[in-house]
Amino acid sequence: MDVLDAIKSRKSVRRYLDKSIEKEKLIAVLEAGRLAPSASNRQEWRFVIVRDRETRRKLAEAADEQAFVGEAPVVIVACAETDSHTMKCEQPCYPIDVAIALDHITLAAVELELGTCWIGAFDEERVKEILGIPEEIRVVELMPLGYPSDPSIVKKERLSLDTIVKYEHW
Ligand SMILES: Cc1cc2nc3c(=O)[nH]c(=O)nc-3n(C[C@H](O)[C@H](O)[C@H](O)COP(=O)(O)O)c2cc1C
Repeated sequence: MDVLDAIKSRKSVRRYLDKSIEKEKLIAVLEAGRLAPSASNRQEWRFVIVRDRETRRKLAEAADEQAFVGEAPVVIVACAETDSHTMKCEQPCYPIDVAIALDHITLAAVELELGTCWIGAFDEERVKEILGIPEEIRVVELMPLGYPSDPSIVKKERLSLDTIVKYEHW
């Protein structure tokens, strides 16, 4: 599968098979995240891999009661060990860098017939409590990972290029 096919096939997966993920596949998707670019190569991302069923259930509760989050065999809790450094453009590095690593993970997952869903609706303090994450660490996203119960490709609802792209000036 080439990158464009992976991009076209990726979708938010909210139903997972009750099937564990092979260790090599888990390592392969994490490796895709590890190789992501980051501002000044800061690599502030840190990933907590949660496989324990009860802990996953608690995470789902902390994620606005989105039960499917706990139904995937793995939840990747994407964190940043960060000093909240900003770039010259005044954007903070860590949310951007963690997001790039996670996007690598979503695309590598597709290649390995796995599904993911970005989860931004969660209570950071509660997630930290559940996992014993230190105060100074930020939790950026949760990401369930598992075999989709429906692997079909869905049509993406997106704005047209005409709407989102301007050439040469705004
Ligand atoms: C930063 C971010 C946070 C998101 N948070 C949630 C979430 O908490 N729960 C959820 O079900 N989907 C969440 N989504 C998934 C989006 O709803 C989804 O990506 C969007 O509707 C496009 O659909 P697609 O991923 O199937 O292409 C999130 C996506 C992103 C990028």
